[in-house]
Amino acid sequence: MTRAPSRKPKPRATKLATKRTRGRGQRARRSVGKRPPRRGRTRKQVLVTGGAGFIGSHLCDRLIANGYAVVALDNLTTGSRKNLEHLRREPSFTLIEHDVREAYDLPVQQIFNLACPASPVHYQTDPVATWKTSIFGAVHALELARRRGARVFQASTSEVYGDPTVHPQPESYWGNVNPIGIRACYDEGKRAAETLFFDYARRYRTDIRVARIFNTYGPRMLPHDGRVVSNFIVQALKGEPITIYGDGSQTRSFCYVDDLVEGFLRLMADNAPHGPVNLGNPGEFTVAELAEKVLAMTGSRSHRVFKPLPADDPTRRRPEISVAQEKLGWKPTVALPQGLERTIAYFRQAIASS
Ligand SMILES: NC(=O)c1ccc[n+]([C@@H]2O[C@H](COP(=O)([O-])OP(=O)(O)OC[C@H]3O[C@@H](n4cnc5c(N)ncnc54)[C@H](O)[C@@H]3O)[C@@H](O)[C@H]2O)c1
Repeated sequence: MTRAPSRKPKPRATKLATKRTRGRGQRARRSVGKRPPRRGRTRKQVLVTGGAGFIGSHLCDRLIANGYAVVALDNLTTGSRKNLEHLRREPSFTLIEHDVREAYDLPVQQIFNLACPASPVHYQTDPVATWKTSIFGAVHALELARRRGARVFQASTSEVYGDPTVHPQPESYWGNVNPIGIRACYDEGKRAAETLFFDYARRYRTDIRVARIFNTYGPRMLPHDGRVVSNFIVQALKGEPITIYGDGSQTRSFCYVDDLVEGFLRLMADNAPHGPVNLGNPGEFTVAELAEKVLAMTGSRSHRVFKPLPADDPTRRRPEISVAQEKLGWKPTVALPQGLERTIAYFRQAIASS
């Protein structure tokens, strides 16, 4: 992993150990942990909520490699310490155990707000908690940004488009979401969080960035959380039946995690004001095609089983990314076979060592 240039003065090391906060009764503005990490002399201090999760841990890696001091804030519900194990000895990295439904305070210049369960299996387990995480988590990130004069990034989602009637989906599309369905805790939670972000920008001039993330995959996804890429790979590697919901003709676009994180960094670094920006890979594949590719690449003999489509499952998904291309010079560079190869290698090893 690259370090900051050595000619820079050494930053004050932040603490390595995981800290646990006092829980629900914690009052707003109270700092999490007993001694919050202090601002380094030269490094910008960046907060990543949800930093122990799949995307968050990759983002922490890139930020550390780029010379930032990073604090990951996570309640470890779907994330894990294992995702950040390799940063244990990194003096510029701190993991703080905290639930973003409770307020917190840290001396930071940038905030990436990623904390939220992202797979249907997890966000539907406790829909009220999901909704609160989205809404209260957004308020607390925005309040921190306001208090500290920090730039704040929201990990929004293509789910704000629901089951889209416009294809591909541009940022100007308002979406087609069932507000009372089983996916609404996540979809409407993320929509309301976007509303909060733009209201804070209008009302308090908070410096916001909002990315609408489309399906992203890569190493450190959880093996059994129902997301289609990890599901297929794990089932194929274990020789279990490949579960296809519906007839497999529904489409998805798959973005490799490194590409996505590059998009985050470009959006956060750009000083121009932005509306929401789609980040995803516009390559569109049917779920049946994905199953085919995974079976071929793993050399698996698993057979396919078909199950009914879950309620409100979107039939087509593909990002329109001209805003990201024109304003950030960003587009994905990792093709699906290349990304699948890396992800399969990760799961092969994870399964072997489990
Ligand atoms: N992966 C995708 O394809 C995708 C697509 C669209 C949007 N997103 C968004 O990106 C973000 C990261 O997604 P991911 O795929 O890495 O999911 P993930 O579940 O791996 O990561 C979410 C992290 O947030 C933490 N978390 C959840 N609730 C929390 C709470 N109340 N307080 C503190 N921490 C909490 C979890 O422990 C986990 O570490 C999420 O906000 C998600 O909605 C992801």
